[in-house]
Amino acid sequence: MTEPVDLVVLGGGSGGYAAALRYAELGHSVVMVERDKVGGTCLHRGCIPTKALLHSAEVVDTIKESEAYGVVGSFDKVDLPGVHAYKDKVVTGLYKGLTGLVKSRRIEVVEGEGRLVSPTAVQVGDRTIEAAHVLLATGSVARSIPGLEVDHERVITSDDALVLDGIPDSVIILGAGAIGCEFASVWRSFGAEVTIVEALPRLVPLEEESSSKLLERAFRKKGIKSELGARFESVEHTEGGVRVTLEGGKALEAELLLVAIGRGPVSQGLGYEEQGVVVERGFVQVDAYCQTAVPTISAVGDLIPTLQLAHVGFAEGILVAERLHGLPVTPVDYDGVPRVTYSHPEVASVGITSAVAAERGIETVEATYDLAGNGRARILGTSGAVKVIAQKDGPVIGIHMVGERVGDLVAEAQLITNWEALPGEVAQLIHPHPTMSEAVGEAHLALAGKPLHSHS
Ligand code: NAI
Repeated sequence: MTEPVDLVVLGGGSGGYAAALRYAELGHSVVMVERDKVGGTCLHRGCIPTKALLHSAEVVDTIKESEAYGVVGSFDKVDLPGVHAYKDKVVTGLYKGLTGLVKSRRIEVVEGEGRLVSPTAVQVGDRTIEAAHVLLATGSVARSIPGLEVDHERVITSDDALVLDGIPDSVIILGAGAIGCEFASVWRSFGAEVTIVEALPRLVPLEEESSSKLLERAFRKKGIKSELGARFESVEHTEGGVRVTLEGGKALEAELLLVAIGRGPVSQGLGYEEQGVVVERGFVQVDAYCQTAVPTISAVGDLIPTLQLAHVGFAEGILVAERLHGLPVTPVDYDGVPRVTYSHPEVASVGITSAVAAERGIETVEATYDLAGNGRARILGTSGAVKVIAQKDGPVIGIHMVGERVGDLVAEAQLITNWEALPGEVAQLIHPHPTMSEAVGEAHLALAGKPLHSHS
């Protein structure tokens, strides 16, 4: 039996390691238990490797479209092993940095499958780690539905998609959330025939409706097909791949089916409920401070029913570390979390949509600036728009954007919404010309009643 530590973290992904780093920084002893690699889904199977693939896809598009920019070049092929090598190098470099950081803060990493065995202990193999506090951060895995068996060969998840050894000729993607749209974009740029099947009537259904429409238009132009408002019924193997039947009888065939219908929490068989932690539909229930029903146990990240985003995990992890230390903390404002789908073009937003505003009975005004009027967007050959929603006679409450590189604009957009700026205040800020950021400025100029490069 060793001395109890201050905190044991179960799961070393974005939420878990952020808490570990911050709590150690505040002077506490921390042990982090991880069955795979510190960095978790985001670093090894999610955000980072997929964005590397999306960058390779962008390079392909740039070469294929080079003549539009007066450069004559020819596209030969996508060297998939080369793409993987580049992607893996990015991941490995970040992993090395992260493990160095963890070590420098004197956090002990215990490799293995951990299990909660008391409100203050985690067991890994034959070792029991006692701690004053426990943080559950076991994350999520791709989920499926009954009748849709993932065989990891023809019916795959994003984990499999990241390590494919060939580019499929054709793919059906089930689900038009971030994962579905990002892979649709990558594979289409790599030359595959892509069809997205989405149960709801639009792509990225949680986004502002006008953003969905702009993405749908851009995807159609790229040759990505979609079946919207279409429910999956069944899948069967064919000689060359899969046949997917939709409710209503329509059948689609392709080499592969990617299942991207959401991610479910990893909470089963880990001793959570036995120790009094409340679990509903697999998600660990917490209060606004990420505290479970058990006073010594907190939970963060994809395991709890909040937005499943790495940066939300970071924020929740820091919140727990600071709360345990006794610092004053504020709950995460989930409306204020910036969201980016890194497809080409990108979709980015922060704050609430007009539909949510209507549900909450908020009277709104809005303005949309079409990127056609933005110099940098024309230079880059991208189209899309920036839409700003403000409370009538009040602050900006939502910013919704589509276009290449708008993911980078959401940093400013989140300052505007989270600082509750008035449209007139933002209209006074000078945006450098010619940049994409001017579109944010122009939308606010329009909303403040003084449009410059657009019609009132
Ligand atoms: P998601 O929940 O965002 O999207 C799943 C989509 O599948 C939904 O639009 C849903 O309506 C649809 N769907 C569900 N059942 C269906 C059925 N039977 N037939 C047809 N369509 C069906 O989940 P996704 O894209 O798998 O991503 C998982 C999580 O990871 C999300 O929380 C997402 O935000 C996060 N993520 C974020 C990224 C980013 O921020 N860039 C990138 C990748 C994932």
